[in-house]
Amino acid sequence: MSADPRQLAEYLRFLRELGVEDTAISSDIAARLVAANNSPAATPPAPEPASPSAKAAAAARRAPAQPAPAPRPAQISMPGNDSFPIALADASGPGRADGADPAEQLRQIRADLGDCTRCKLHAQGRRQIVFGVGNPRARLVFVGEGPGADEDAQGIPFVGRAGRLLTDMIEKGMGLRRDDVYICNVVKCRPPNNRTPENDETAACSPFLRRQLAAIRPEMVCALGAVAAQNLLGRRGPIGGFRGTVHRLELEGFTTRLVVTYHPAYLLRDPSQKKETWKDLQIVMRELGLPLPARS
Ligand code: URA
Repeated sequence: MSADPRQLAEYLRFLRELGVEDTAISSDIAARLVAANNSPAATPPAPEPASPSAKAAAAARRAPAQPAPAPRPAQISMPGNDSFPIALADASGPGRADGADPAEQLRQIRADLGDCTRCKLHAQGRRQIVFGVGNPRARLVFVGEGPGADEDAQGIPFVGRAGRLLTDMIEKGMGLRRDDVYICNVVKCRPPNNRTPENDETAACSPFLRRQLAAIRPEMVCALGAVAAQNLLGRRGPIGGFRGTVHRLELEGFTTRLVVTYHPAYLLRDPSQKKETWKDLQIVMRELGLPLPARS
């Protein structure tokens, strides 16, 4: 495990920004920081033991009102430790009894999309189609609005500043690995100047998004921002009207659950809303049976 004090301090700062104060995990990190700083040679603290970590133990001590987490193949430990993120992808997830190969289905959907010219975005400066990234058997899918400049350049969703924040939310906040979830957008081509996608553009791209979700069959979808929420739920409204509820999301031959939170780009403009986002992410974690920080 890397126990670089700066890394630990950064992790603690991130948790505090989310409003995760005085939890077992942050106390544990604080103790490690003190230990690391007091050590003459700044010797990294010993690696996490193989037994359940403080966070998992704290989760286990919580009130029995919490639904018992489903058995997980991984433990929770510290960031930098290979065992830190919970292995979220689950080959035996719902819908997998149909014997379908979601990776192959995603390849087929990407092939059907082709060098898409179905809407005007193809002629408005897009460099490439940004299809989606992550585990085809993910239990959790994040859906954003549309690629920005970095995503357009790299062909991967959420890799710019907002993407780094999303990655932190997934990895440092939720304790998962980005690679274990799936991440995609409502529109697959960059709208010029990062404007909001227009109705004809979302209408052209939505069938592909819905097919992606139906292929993956995630247990939960997290819509990032109002555009994703409105598109997936099929109704207009401010983001406040969508948050705080576990919605039903009907897809072709498959129903799943959807939670709405703020778009990371909005959080970069208004970091005070990170605490609200953390509340939404905790709903997702609870629904997935993931352990929450002991007190937040
Ligand atoms: N914003 C989005 O909605 N999607 C991305 O992929 C990047 C930024």
